[in-house]
Amino acid sequence: ATGDATAGESVFNKCKACHMISDADGNDIVKGGRTGPNLYGLYTRVAGSTDFRYGDSIVQAGEAGLEWNEEDFVAYVADPKKFLAEYNDDKRAKSKMAFKLGDEEDAANVWAYLVSVGPE
Ligand code: HEM
Repeated sequence: ATGDATAGESVFNKCKACHMISDADGNDIVKGGRTGPNLYGLYTRVAGSTDFRYGDSIVQAGEAGLEWNEEDFVAYVADPKKFLAEYNDDKRAKSKMAFKLGDEEDAANVWAYLVSVGPE
């Protein structure tokens, strides 16, 4: 990861209203809301693949092969709906995540933070 995990930890304050980070044993790394999926191990995951009730468009992107990586993550959080519309080539794509994090440096820092809190 290119970002600064320590800086990303503070940026994550904007995410935790909706997202927790909770490991495979259910230990909370960050206690957060349940409006969005757990972000633990995001960088090992196919998009839309946890037991969260996702919207159809992100599930479709995952089925088409979207595995989270820094570049796609930065583009997704900048504008989830736009990202899914482009990825799925579907102007009608929808996202259940209305929040946007437009600052690419902040996004890269959050990515580094998520990588830093595991798993290996
Ligand atoms: C989905 C990141 C803030 C609500 C996601 C996903 C990522 C992400 C990577 C896809 C997860 C997956 O494929 O399993 C972030 C980051 C945030 C942030 C880094 C802060 C910078 C928020 C906020 C909300 C929110 C503030 C609520 C107001 C959601 C929801 C989904 C989602 C509902 C599911 C999307 C769908 O089913 O279409 N988020 N998020 N997120 N997020 Fe966020």
